Amino acid sequence: MNANLPVAATITGVRSLTADTTLFTLTCNDRAAAGKVASFLPGQFLELSLPGIGEIPVSYCGLPSAEGTIELCIRHLGHVTSPLHRATPGDAVGVRGPFGHGFPLDSYENQDLLLIAGGLGMAPLRSLLLALLEQRRRWGELTLLYGAREMGALLFLEELQQLALRSDITIQLAVDRRTHCLEGPPGCRVALLPALLEQLTIRVERTCAALCGPPVVYPYLVSGLKRIGLSDERIHLSLERHMKCGLGRCGHCAVGTLLCCCDGPVFSHARLRGIEGALA
Ligand SMILES: Cc1cc2nc3c(=O)[nH]c(=O)nc-3n(C[C@H](O)[C@H](O)[C@H](O)COP(=O)(O)OP(=O)(O)OC[C@H]3O[C@@H](n4cnc5c(N)ncnc54)[C@H](O)[C@@H]3O)c2cc1C
Ligand code: FES
Repeated sequence: MNANLPVAATITGVRSLTADTTLFTLTCNDRAAAGKVASFLPGQFLELSLPGIGEIPVSYCGLPSAEGTIELCIRHLGHVTSPLHRATPGDAVGVRGPFGHGFPLDSYENQDLLLIAGGLGMAPLRSLLLALLEQRRRWGELTLLYGAREMGALLFLEELQQLALRSDITIQLAVDRRTHCLEGPPGCRVALLPALLEQLTIRVERTCAALCGPPVVYPYLVSGLKRIGLSDERIHLSLERHMKCGLGRCGHCAVGTLLCCCDGPVFSHARLRGIEGALA
C-alpha cells in the first residue's frame, strides 16, 4: 500500500457525542487495505480525506480491527471537519495511515497506568483505555482522570460511567465550570484537570502517565506529575501540531528538530526536555 494515497472507505456509523463532536465508524472498502489502515497502536493517527474538500489528521479512537472498521471522534470546527457534521452512513471518505508513534504499550507491562485526558484528548485516550482493558491482566492499577470545560462537553460519558462500576479501574471526572441545566454525574468535580492530581496517591516507581489534552494544560500536568515524583521517562504525552503531509516531508509539524508526524505524536517528556515551546 502506498502511504501517499488514500484508500476508499465508507461511513457506516454516525453517533453524536456532544453538540459539536461526533463519533464516526468507517469501514474500508478493500479488505487487503483494511488490514493495514485499521491496525494501529493507540496514539497513532490517520489522514482522513473528504473528496473535493481536503484532508486532516485524526487520532484513532477505538480498537484495531482485522475487518477494517475504524472509529474516529471528530470535533466540527473548520473547512474539513464542519462538512462532516452533515455526513451520514453510506458517505464516501478516504483514509491513509497509520502514522506516527503511539503510546509504548510494551513498556507499560506490569506498570500502574495513569491516563490523563483533557477535552478532545479523550479520543486517543479512549483507544488506549480500551486496549488496556482488553488485556487487563498485563497492567497494574489503572486510573483515568478526564476533564472537560463543562458537563455537556464530556465525551463518552455513559461509557465511562459504566466502566467506573468496575473494580479494576478508577475514573475521576472534572469540569471547569458548573452549568445550571445539567446535573453532573456522581463523582464529577468542578475543578481544573491539574487539580485532580492533588488528591492522587500513586506508586511513583511503577507508574507511567499517558497524557492527551490541549497544549495549554500540559505544563501544569507535567509539573504536577513531577511534583508527585514521576520521572520524565515515565510521562508520555501526545503533541498536536498543524500537519500537512503526515510523512515527514513538509516540516509543518516541527517541534525543535523533531517532527510530530513521524517522531511523535506521542513523546516521552524526557525526549522533549529542553526543546523550547514543545509543550506550548
Ligand atoms: C496528530 C493529530 C491528531 C488529531 N486528532 C484529532 C481527533 O481525533 N479529532 C479531531 O476532531 N481533531 C483531531 N485533530 C485536529 C484536526 O486535525 C483539526 O481539527 C483539523 O485539521 C481541522 O481541520 P479543518 O479543515 O476542519 O479546520 P481549519 O479550517 O483548517 O481550521 C479551523 C480552526 O481549527 C484550527 N486548527 C486546524 N488544525 C488544527 C490542529 N491540528 N490543532 C489545533 N487547531 C487546529 C485552525 O487554526 C482554525 O482555528 C488532530 C490533529 C493532529 C495533528
Ligand atoms: S506533517 Fe509534514 S513533516 Fe510532519
